Amino acid sequence: MNTPLAGVIGWPINHSKSPNIHKYWLKKHGISGDYHTLSIKPEDFIKELKSLPSMGYVGANVTIPHKEAALANAREVTTRARAIGAANTLVFLPCGGYRADNTDGEGFINNIKQNAPDWDALAGQALVIGAGGAARAILYSLLAEGTPEILLANRTKSRAETLASEFGNRITVIDWADISSATIETKIIVNTTSLGMSGYDELKIDLRCSSQTLVTDIVYVPLQTNLLKEAANKGCVTVSGLGMLLHQAVPGFESWFGIRPIVDESLIRKILKR
Ligand code: ATR
Repeated sequence: MNTPLAGVIGWPINHSKSPNIHKYWLKKHGISGDYHTLSIKPEDFIKELKSLPSMGYVGANVTIPHKEAALANAREVTTRARAIGAANTLVFLPCGGYRADNTDGEGFINNIKQNAPDWDALAGQALVIGAGGAARAILYSLLAEGTPEILLANRTKSRAETLASEFGNRITVIDWADISSATIETKIIVNTTSLGMSGYDELKIDLRCSSQTLVTDIVYVPLQTNLLKEAANKGCVTVSGLGMLLHQAVPGFESWFGIRPIVDESLIRKILKR
């Protein structure tokens, strides 16, 4: 059998951490596959994607700006990718075409399960900040886990309202100005915006949470955002965003290379070094 190949397709794609993640697991499990970075322009995406299986590719990750096009052109689409409205993991099918999945929500939940095992989705209300692509995956996964109520705040309120109308009546849209007061009764607070990332503005909220509250961020540069630092100072449980990136890669690797890998300390150290 030929060496199975996978890769991440984006435009631009220079700074992706995915090759390091998958190469780490390939080496760890002694699999003679490889994982490449594929820089493909939007106008060439579908044509180039079609040519990959004949070159030995068994699948691919897709990132900005291809996530919606990857969904729209798929032969098969998973329920979660359809609900989230974007694909990040493709598996080429023996009969031609590909199955499109979205593993971001699974990555989000499994990061929390690994790092805050006491968190219980059923225990109470969530507060989600932001209404972009990442928020869609996180809302989907929190609802799938059974979260009874989600407060959703976004700078542009209409985007939050659109998400609430799509994802159903367990979501309540609140004003951006009310985020701080919404932290009081909340069991999990999630920043899905780019605020707090190096070079961006900070997310300024007055956290009124306790040791019963989990605070997590999708931003992982810096690893400990100001939001997480402040949450830790107030005694909240915190989970950083790097694990979401690592865990979202697990299902793709398993589909392509046949082994379900784990996110271990040595992978985390390797990715942090880069
Ligand atoms: P992604 O797909 O990564 O989630 P996105 O769709 O661009 O990216 O969404 C980015 C999120 O960060 C949005 O919720 C955005 O708020 P708007 O919908 O109002 O644009 C939020 N965001 C980005 N910059 C922000 C800022 N300076 N203040 C508040 N929210 C911000």
